Amino acid sequence: MHNGQHAQRVVLVTGASTGIGLALTRLLVAVDFRVIATARPESLPRFADSGLVESERLLFRQLELGDFESHKAVVAEAFSRWGRIDVLVNNAGIAYRSVVEDMSANDELQQLTPNYLGPMNLIRLVLPFMRRQRAGHIINVSSVSGMMAMPTMASYSASKWALEGASEALWYEMRPWGVRVCLIEPGFIHSTAFQQVRYPQGLDPTRPEAPYAPYYRHMSRLVQRLMDYTLATPESIAAQILRVIHQADPPLRVLATFDAQLFLLLRRLMPRALYHRLLYLCLPGVREWGKEPADDTPTH
Ligand SMILES: NC(=O)c1ccc[n+]([C@@H]2O[C@H](COP(=O)([O-])OP(=O)(O)OC[C@H]3O[C@@H](n4cnc5c(N)ncnc54)[C@H](OP(=O)(O)O)[C@@H]3O)[C@@H](O)[C@H]2O)c1
Repeated sequence: MHNGQHAQRVVLVTGASTGIGLALTRLLVAVDFRVIATARPESLPRFADSGLVESERLLFRQLELGDFESHKAVVAEAFSRWGRIDVLVNNAGIAYRSVVEDMSANDELQQLTPNYLGPMNLIRLVLPFMRRQRAGHIINVSSVSGMMAMPTMASYSASKWALEGASEALWYEMRPWGVRVCLIEPGFIHSTAFQQVRYPQGLDPTRPEAPYAPYYRHMSRLVQRLMDYTLATPESIAAQILRVIHQADPPLRVLATFDAQLFLLLRRLMPRALYHRLLYLCLPGVREWGKEPADDTPTH
């Protein structure tokens, strides 16, 4: 594709001030899309350090996924200014690290809001236009955690599985209208996203006597190592998203990293019961798990 060919197409990106969202915004601007790059109000100033500058083709706007009024405002501005949104990239997301027992109902809602409830609301806002023009593209950034679950990541996985389920249903619903629906499934990425991991309010995962202390200790170390050594970067994932945007009929699911491909292969090839037992045996330090006093002391 040559520069200029996308001059009319409008892309809305969430979580655009960091990581994959920022890398994607850079690529989109470089190939002449018109872009609304959104970030939470407190993160908007980051754009000033990104090297990107607002222009006729690039708007920086605030969008908090938990604030549906902010969704409306951004979508309304895109339509009033450019009359269209052709591609919605639901990229923003957060990850809780917590065993099921340590999550509160409010923590669950905090996890679901940016990863599932917010993206679904944005989709509902842009669909009527896409349906009427019988074209458009919804791209939801999921994760390898949207196809497999790991201890201490139950709620994160649940949020991505929810996104996967809804996207799969939407793929069927929108195909007759020419609207493409795509899930990007990255595995571990070499990025600082690890530092953004959330813990349930009041939880001290380092308290050594807590019943789940070894789970947190070993799983955090494993995730950090995998993120340190993987070759995948926010830029490489952004490049895959751009390829998908260019595709006339992209697949529903795009495995965006080598580890995602490997895990899918294992899940496909191995009988389920065997897969779960094998993964359990491979969990780091699993022999230490369950050895702490099983008292009722709350972890937080
Ligand atoms: N990094 C990985 O290893 C990895 C692996 C698989 C999948 N993913 C997925 O890839 C996507 C992008 O992640 P990333 O690696 O680029 O991480 P990142 O650098 O932490 O970016 C996440 C973005 O989401 C934004 N965000 C969080 N909560 C929000 C809210 N309530 N409203 C609006 N924006 C919000 C963040 O804004 P603030 O900075 O203001 O909080 C940030 O800009 C996520 O959906 C993530 O689940 C990442």
